[in-house]
Amino acid sequence: MNIKRYGVDAPFALLIYAVFGVGLLWHAYVNRLNYPIGIVLVLGALIFLHTTTRGKYKIFDDAIKHLNLKSDSQVLDLGCGRGALLTRIAKQLGAAGKVTGLDLWLSRDQSHNKMSITQKNVDDLGLTDRVNLVTDDMTKLDFPDESFDVVTSSFAIHNIKNEQVRIHAVKEAIRVLKPGGHLMIIDTGRNIKEYSQIFQDSGLQIAQSRGLGFNGWWATPLTNSYVVAGNKPATKTAK
Ligand SMILES: C[S@@+](CC[C@H](N)C(=O)[O-])C[C@H]1O[C@@H](n2cnc3c(N)ncnc32)[C@H](O)[C@@H]1O
Repeated sequence: MNIKRYGVDAPFALLIYAVFGVGLLWHAYVNRLNYPIGIVLVLGALIFLHTTTRGKYKIFDDAIKHLNLKSDSQVLDLGCGRGALLTRIAKQLGAAGKVTGLDLWLSRDQSHNKMSITQKNVDDLGLTDRVNLVTDDMTKLDFPDESFDVVTSSFAIHNIKNEQVRIHAVKEAIRVLKPGGHLMIIDTGRNIKEYSQIFQDSGLQIAQSRGLGFNGWWATPLTNSYVVAGNKPATKTAK
């Protein structure tokens, strides 16, 4: 089951929806009050649970079709967490392909987030030869320019709250992308325009910039998800 292997995203947010929702329903029941706020919160918790256990995996299954992976692709997954997207990518690669998963393994962003758990997931799926895990901060990447054919990041960059640092992280992702390479960011929050602008300013051709619908709702349609993807020109025009 997805939740056992890959955990729950933002576990405290889910807990808050569930605890306050059930608490308010109980309070309304005992005091014979109206139920609406409790119902909305419990519904939010259920939708959140759907997205973190099923919805985001449907999003990933569709997203990897757009990556045009080759058997020898060199891929970087920023904020890979327990490896839900990373392992899907690794399954598409051949012996010469490699996906590097980079993370700080923060438990506030994903439950039981540890490099050893991600490594076990990779090993259990028979993907050990195709995956390399590193502990690092995506805001200061330690890779040379133009190292990867494909760079991905799912539900990770919005966790960088400082706008300038977040912009720098996206520019770092573009820096390490080879000419002709593909960058795909799946995220939630309010940054779709910001990411698209950085892509354009850096000379990337936008391939996708769109919302991801119900499967990407983190409790409500206001906290939805989106994908921004683009291609770095094959010749060097990026600024
Ligand atoms: C919500 S989880 C998503 C994990 C995975 N990409 C997925 O979709 O299942 C966000 C991840 O971003 C990581 N993260 C947050 N800030 C980071 C940073 N500055 N550098 C690297 N990883 C970071 C967290 O540790 C966490 O694993």
